[in-house]
Amino acid sequence: MLENMKNRRTIRKYTTQDIPDALLNELLEVAARASNTGNMQLYSVVITRDKANKEKLAPAHFNQQMITTAPVVLTFCADANRFVKWAEQRKAVAGFDNFQTFIASTIDAMLFAQSFCTAAEEKGLGICY
Ligand SMILES: Cc1cc2nc3c(=O)[nH]c(=O)nc-3n(C[C@H](O)[C@H](O)[C@H](O)COP(=O)(O)O)c2cc1C
Repeated sequence: MLENMKNRRTIRKYTTQDIPDALLNELLEVAARASNTGNMQLYSVVITRDKANKEKLAPAHFNQQMITTAPVVLTFCADANRFVKWAEQRKAVAGFDNFQTFIASTIDAMLFAQSFCTAAEEKGLGICY
């Protein structure tokens, strides 16, 4: 684990090997174990495998080729919406429409993303943010 972390680097060219759903799900489950704000998990992740959808995402990434050549693109989103809905269902007011929530959800998304990346590299996959 530590050796992999010492020797890792960003990978920008990929083989055509697929990433099985079972492996992807395992990595997502591991990443979801990351510490997060008040156990609210203020993030979501969108998985894109479809070529046409990757092409739609490319402009948001300055058309860098990794977006269309990687077998899987993950969009990590700061997302308080799910927790706000959970609170509303319980007749509570989350009071989350503020800068503090923006920061907290961004931190949660980044911690989740980095845990995912570390786990993916541990399994021998190459990643590029
Ligand atoms: C938030 C974030 C955004 C990044 N965006 C890009 C990017 O758009 N394109 C790219 O090629 N690399 C991107 N990178 C990768 C960095 O360039 C890379 O981590 C850095 O140059 C250090 O290289 P290393 O990861 O090989 O050690 C990003 C990294 C982070 C953390």
